[in-house]
Formats: sequence, structure tokens, C-alpha cells
Amino acid sequence: MSSPSQPDPRFEKAKLGDDELLVAHEKALGPKPDERARYRLAPLMMLFAMAGVILFAATYLNRYSGRFDRSVYDETALPNAGGAAEAKVDPAVAGKRLFGTPGACVTCHQATGEGIPGVYPPLAGSEWATGSEERVIRIVLFGLKGPVRVRGTDFPGTAAMPAFGASGFAWSDEKIAAVLTYVRQEWGNKAAAVTPQQVHKIRQSVGERKEWTQDELLTVK
Ligand code: HEC
Repeated sequence: MSSPSQPDPRFEKAKLGDDELLVAHEKALGPKPDERARYRLAPLMMLFAMAGVILFAATYLNRYSGRFDRSVYDETALPNAGGAAEAKVDPAVAGKRLFGTPGACVTCHQATGEGIPGVYPPLAGSEWATGSEERVIRIVLFGLKGPVRVRGTDFPGTAAMPAFGASGFAWSDEKIAAVLTYVRQEWGNKAAAVTPQQVHKIRQSVGERKEWTQDELLTVK
């Protein structure tokens, strides 16, 4: 039994001195504020760094991806010159790479330039490949539907030569000139190089059309 005049020992205990109070507060506050600040700085910096990387990547893709259209990529364009200036690319090197692009010439005509008997005619020693530029540029721009006679063998035209101009793979004048220069000077072929200007002229003068037939091509120069 405690009488009201006697102080309750629990209240007595809570009576802290100033020093004890300070210590108790410090404990309750936990780590020092600046310690926490240092701990949080690392993820914050990371956030800024990542945001920077994403911003850079997005800007870069927006500017140079060409909307991921395969017909837009042009290895002769200099990005810092707005794509207007032409880099000096050896046409033979560019031509070889273009020829070997999966789905391009190599798929049908083979790396050896020998084609596949009965289906894909050879480019090595072919009178079409090494003959008139006027004809061979037309073949690559618009395609060719057989039958066609190459190196004395008739190819029935069961497979057709696809267009690499606007109606097909939409290759640039530079690409078509480069690949034809390669084709005309590889596998022992010794024909003159093809220039982008020649391709451009034929592209302009022919306009739009479907693939050629052998007879139509033979009427060209
Ligand atoms: C999808 C297969 C295919 C691809 C890809 C292809 N060609 Fe052809 N090409 C043919 C066929 C088939 C013919 C013969 C036409 C026919 O039989 O209808 C032909 C014919 C030719 C000819 C005339 C005949 C000859 O043998 O000389 C040339 C030149 C030629 N192609 C060059 C090229 C070049 C250069 C490329 C790449 C830019 C290319 N072709 C890509 C299938 C292809």
C-alpha cells in the first residue's frame, strides 16, 4: 500500500539529469545525419549516371538508327557531316562485304561466283557480269526473270534474280556500284569498275519497272 504523499519510484526513475537526457536522445536518433547522407550518395550518383547513359543512348539511336530501316544504312556516310560528305571507302572492299551480306548475292551465286548448277547462274566468267555495264546495272537494279543463257548453259528461270533497286532491297547507287565492281573484278573477271554515277543515270532514265527478261536486255546497247 502506498500513500499519495510517498513518491512513486517509477516517476523517480524517469527524472534524468541533463547529461543523461542528451545521451538518451543521441541513442534514440540513431546514426549521425551526415553518416546517412554519405551512405545515400552512392545510389543517387548511380541513378544520375544511368539516366545519363539512357539519355545518350536514346539520342544516339534517334539520330543514327535510321529507324532501323536496313535501306537507310550507308557505310559511306559520315555522321558528323550530316551524311552529306562521303568517306573514302575502297569499293573493292565494300563490294566484297556487300556481296557476302547474308541474303545478298552470295546466298545464290555463292562465294566462289560459280552459282548452283541448274538454278543460280555463275558470275565468274559470265558474259552478263563482265559485259555491258548498261545491262548488268539494269539486272541488279530491277532483277531478271529467266530463262537466261550464261556461259553457254540455259538457266530455266525457276528462281528469279531479285531487284536491289527501289522496288527490292533499295540499295544505294554507291552500294550497287561497289558490289558490281567487285563482281566484275573477282574470280578472274577483268571488266571495268562501275561508278555510282552510272547506276544513278540508269536508275533515273528507267524509272520504275518489273524485272527484265533476257530478250529485253539484249535490246539494250
Ligand atoms: C535470290 C537469289 C539471288 C540473289 C540474292 C542474287 N541473284 Fe543474281 N541471279 C539469280 C538468278 C536466279 C539469276 C538468273 C535469272 C533467272 O534464272 O531467272 C541471276 C542472274 C544474275 C546475273 C546475270 C546472269 C549471270 O550469271 O551473270 C547477274 C550479273 C547477277 N545475277 C548478279 C547478282 C548480284 C551482283 C547480286 C547481289 C547484289 C545478285 N545477283 C543476287 C539469283 C540471285
